Amino acid sequence: MDFGNKITRIAVIGTGFVGSSYAFTVMNQNVTDEMVLIDLNKSKAEGDAMDLNHGLPFGYPTKIWSGDYSDCGEADIVVITAGANQKPGETRLDLIEKNARIFKGIVNSVMESGFKGIFIVATNPVDILAYATWKFSGLPMERVIGSGTILDTARFRFLLSQYFDIDVRNIHGYIMGEHGDTELPIWSQTRIGSEHIKRYMEKYKPDGKQEDLDEIFVNVRDAAYHIIERKGATHYAIAMGLVRLTKAILRNESSLLTVSTLLQGEYGLDDLYIGVPAIVGKNGVDRIIEIDLNDEEKKQLKHSANVLKEAMKPVFQ
Ligand code: 2OP
Repeated sequence: MDFGNKITRIAVIGTGFVGSSYAFTVMNQNVTDEMVLIDLNKSKAEGDAMDLNHGLPFGYPTKIWSGDYSDCGEADIVVITAGANQKPGETRLDLIEKNARIFKGIVNSVMESGFKGIFIVATNPVDILAYATWKFSGLPMERVIGSGTILDTARFRFLLSQYFDIDVRNIHGYIMGEHGDTELPIWSQTRIGSEHIKRYMEKYKPDGKQEDLDEIFVNVRDAAYHIIERKGATHYAIAMGLVRLTKAILRNESSLLTVSTLLQGEYGLDDLYIGVPAIVGKNGVDRIIEIDLNDEEKKQLKHSANVLKEAMKPVFQ
């Protein structure tokens, strides 16, 4: 796709916490010309459109309205955030059957509109629902992207930045695998600036311990539980991650982001969506980056993939 001078349109499906935070972030970051909000609860979408429009004098010119699936035909990107979310104590995988059913209806309706753009999927369990969207839509895999571990990677970088007291933008590392309980940190490739994290710690934080890093990862993995316990949902950071992904597409940024995408032999895995570093640009996922993993990381990634495959069975058999 070439967006050039085209009037760009984003359709947001689901205006709950994540969808409305995403819409708010979009209009604050000068992302698109048009944005349509679609929700089963029409009056919620209408109210959100009104509220956001009243902020336009303080934001960027964006045409915002509440609409229906027919508005997806002209959309460049459809972002799906609709579906049930976790209650305290529930895992993401607990949501699978309910949300897969909802997704069939959504994806069919979007495709019936004549949609020819790129899907971004955020609803959990995101890896499985991105796979479902790819299957249900019949679109090429590069045009169906799950938010994957984009948020987990952000949490990882943030917590490391706090620990080392250094700008988060100088922390380079990835969380890969399921966006969920079996995700894994890629310590072997984590760097601060250009220095490997272990070497950086030896040189600049000699009192630092491996156990501290292990604890940081546990806090990354369990962050959603901690937030949901406190306020019932997580939405601001994921909204920002989704906007990052949206901009990478609309501005053809070729950005390296940890998204959920279809593996076809990469990392020795096949026929599932899972979080890996990939280059994202105007066509969606341009290519998957196969970074070198150590043996333990390979084992953990395989385990994560096996858990996802097992969880997918009831829906795709
Ligand atoms: C999160 O990680 C719940 O998946 C959501 O914040």
